[in-house]
Amino acid sequence: MASILSQLDLALRRAIKDAFKLDADPQLNHSQNANFGDYQSNAAMALAKPLGQKPRAVADQIKSSLNLGDIASEISVAGPGFINIRLSPTWLAGQLDTIRTDPRVGIETASAPRTIVVDYSGPNIAKEMHVGNLRSTIIGDAISRVLQFQGHAIVRQNHIGDWGTQFGMLIAYAAHSGIALAQKPNSDKWAAAVEFQPISDLEAFYRDAKKLFDADTAFQESARKQVVALQANQPESLAIWAGIIDQSRNHYEDIYERLGVLLTPEDERGESAYNDLLAGVVADLKAAGIAVESQGAVVVEVPGFESPLIIQKSDGGYLYGTTDLAAIRYRVNQLHAQRIIYTHDSRQSQHFAQVFWTARKAGWVDGVELEYAPFGTMLGEDGKPFKTRSGGTVKLKELLEEAEQRAMQIVTDKNPQLPESTRAQIAHAVGIGAVKYADLSKDRISDYSFSFDKMLALDGNTAPYLQYAHARIRSIFRKTDEKPGPIRLESPFELALAKHVLRLGEIIEVVGRELKPHHLCTYLYDLAARFSGFYENCPVLQSEDPTRASRLALCDLTARTMELGLNLLGIEHPDQM
Ligand code: ARG
Repeated sequence: MASILSQLDLALRRAIKDAFKLDADPQLNHSQNANFGDYQSNAAMALAKPLGQKPRAVADQIKSSLNLGDIASEISVAGPGFINIRLSPTWLAGQLDTIRTDPRVGIETASAPRTIVVDYSGPNIAKEMHVGNLRSTIIGDAISRVLQFQGHAIVRQNHIGDWGTQFGMLIAYAAHSGIALAQKPNSDKWAAAVEFQPISDLEAFYRDAKKLFDADTAFQESARKQVVALQANQPESLAIWAGIIDQSRNHYEDIYERLGVLLTPEDERGESAYNDLLAGVVADLKAAGIAVESQGAVVVEVPGFESPLIIQKSDGGYLYGTTDLAAIRYRVNQLHAQRIIYTHDSRQSQHFAQVFWTARKAGWVDGVELEYAPFGTMLGEDGKPFKTRSGGTVKLKELLEEAEQRAMQIVTDKNPQLPESTRAQIAHAVGIGAVKYADLSKDRISDYSFSFDKMLALDGNTAPYLQYAHARIRSIFRKTDEKPGPIRLESPFELALAKHVLRLGEIIEVVGRELKPHHLCTYLYDLAARFSGFYENCPVLQSEDPTRASRLALCDLTARTMELGLNLLGIEHPDQM
């Protein structure tokens, strides 16, 4: 079923057409204040001027041409010319009955599904993954899930930073420290001829390499040689490089698994994958007159920016932007992307603006939407950039471990009688859920302060609150064998809950359009609040049929709506807590 908003929108468009022979946006919104109605159209105010009529008169004419069938119980014109629509309880009950057993709770798929590439996470391999990568991973994953649910074909792309001069240092250090032992080539495959010791502490490995690099000029020289060797595809250097990537990959794959994000190794297409395409990018942009030589380098002057986008350095090396341009061509031509979404730190806004401008100018993205969905910085509770007490970068692994440990304490306080393994499972769902939800529930544009105490609170707009609300509903069904039945909406609390359940479709449309998961979080938080209003005022198991069966159905629908919403955010929902 189409969302209520789009059904009303369609009917209003028809009414405006019938009344005035005009195609106009009905300017329909969900009402802020339920006293006036459930939805409100502001079309009359916008149309009054061009029509040369008073807004109220326009509103009256739209109202008399408006045919809403049995959807509305009341259509009224108020104030300067607002058209207020109140939904009919009978119609609402009928709608809920039709979606009662539908796993999609009645939400349609997109009428024009597209192929959408979502570029997210993208850790830099020469460094350990840190909290800055966390936001991209969590937000990108939620956005992909929502778009996929809408029926689009989603291609996830993990654009890892696996190439660049910093690898010279790491390769040299791997050889220097004996981690990578080059053997005499005994086969034509050099990869097989390099023996790699596992790096137990990647962080220490990077740190030690840097320390030696800063202190030792001879080592600097071997690092530089390794850069040259790597760029010349020298097999031994490539083999060591691949070994370092492999070990980093294990590290971030573990984190993905723990976070429950959908990225797989198949989604990984790092910067190095575009190496062979970079010369072509530069040549084509030069031929088109879009890129020009400047002081030995090749640059694109993008209007509105003081510094140009450099695509080739004077020493011939390519840059981050060159790779991104090659990636765009690959995504459009090979992956057939119709929309490409990048969820990355807002500090990269100039980079993406320049890259997008260049790709558009070159005609590489005709008919393709390029979208940058940036996010703010993660701050500590003191409002300063997130750091450990001693000022170091916080490791993602330790952060997630602490979240789970703290959640275990909460679960144990609430439910000491549950077996330890069950409590650990719940603690995992709650701890990880809390970290993800704290990030997703804020408008991604803003910076946000990371606080374990706030995100793990059992009241307020948090994952544990929603998970607990969900588990409480599920517990009702552990106390009865009775089956839900046809829905009757009698109490105002039932009605308020019913209307909210039926809004999920329109919320998902907004998230898919604006790429802002916090709208879905707000929706779920309201859902939990309306459910408590209903549950406190409308006895379920103590009432008689058919009211009891109807209320059980409302409980079940609420639980399933909550489950779907949490799934789309990538958050688990245990049946008990
Ligand atoms: N590696 C980059 C970083 O850590 C993120 C990659 C973003 N994706 C892209 N296509 N540029 O900032």
